[in-house]
Amino acid sequence: MWGIIATWRMAVEGVQKAADMLKEGGDAGDAIEAAVREVEDFPYYKSVGYGGLPNEEMEVELDAAFMDGDTLDIGAVAAIRDFANPVSIARRLAKEKVNNLLVGEGAEKFAHKEGFERKNMLTDRAKIHYRNRVKEITQQEIRPYSGHDTVGMVCLDTKGKMTSATSTSGLFMKKKGRVGDSPVSGSGFYVDSKVGGASATGLGEDVMKGCVSYEIVRLMREGLHPQEACQRAVSQFDKELRERRGKAGDMSLIAMNNKGEWGVATNIEGFSFAVATENLKPVVYLTRIVDGKCVHEPATQEWLDEYMRTRTAPLVEK
Ligand code: GLY
Repeated sequence: MWGIIATWRMAVEGVQKAADMLKEGGDAGDAIEAAVREVEDFPYYKSVGYGGLPNEEMEVELDAAFMDGDTLDIGAVAAIRDFANPVSIARRLAKEKVNNLLVGEGAEKFAHKEGFERKNMLTDRAKIHYRNRVKEITQQEIRPYSGHDTVGMVCLDTKGKMTSATSTSGLFMKKKGRVGDSPVSGSGFYVDSKVGGASATGLGEDVMKGCVSYEIVRLMREGLHPQEACQRAVSQFDKELRERRGKAGDMSLIAMNNKGEWGVATNIEGFSFAVATENLKPVVYLTRIVDGKCVHEPATQEWLDEYMRTRTAPLVEK
């Protein structure tokens, strides 16, 4: 069995690419890296890689992680600027014995020495978003960009190896140096090939309060199906946050176990995700919350067309 699952519609082209590799016996590390790079390279996605939205100083600072579920190797970068594919730098760091999570200038020096591609990640389109937001910001609370956030994935190859990876530009207009859940093990991602993996998208500050990805893997280890594990972890933690703090940030989790079974749970309306397995061609699902439970339905062609139309529509400066 092989499979890959990823947050948001934006991941489906990457999921397709990974599926093509996995069905030919490709490695879960190579497949997930290729899938995340596909999202990082697409200029119209505003929250990952090239075209990602900048911090309050108009710099694009990116976070990414990679985990190998066989060895439990982890590599991650945070607040890295001017490199095309943070996920590949994270994967390279996973091979090191120490220094696995590098931030800012240290991450950039490492990436430069290792010969990773430099790129100015701030697009003209992102600059327009920035200038528009500066005009609005006095009236608005800072939030994850609605409808878009981290790409997080879990992958299983035919040899039973599992991986997880994330990549994000984090909160639009964040403080310089702010780091969310995506490069943080157990929060933005976790995977163990003996069990399965999970990955998160949403408000990093809240996801980190519950180490929600690790919690889902823990529940799967106890025998829960990925759907039950996601549902329980997200519902319980959302409730906990509301009771203790009066509100809970956006939180959407995807998971897959080592049999290729998968699950998704969210506390928001309109969450989309992409999945492919040996038995399921790459498909985008939308999740609705019905009586407190997450229900997944394939996205219609109309929804998919509208999605791409709005992402690539000309942007007007306000
Ligand atoms: N989930 C992405 C972030 O909060 O940075």
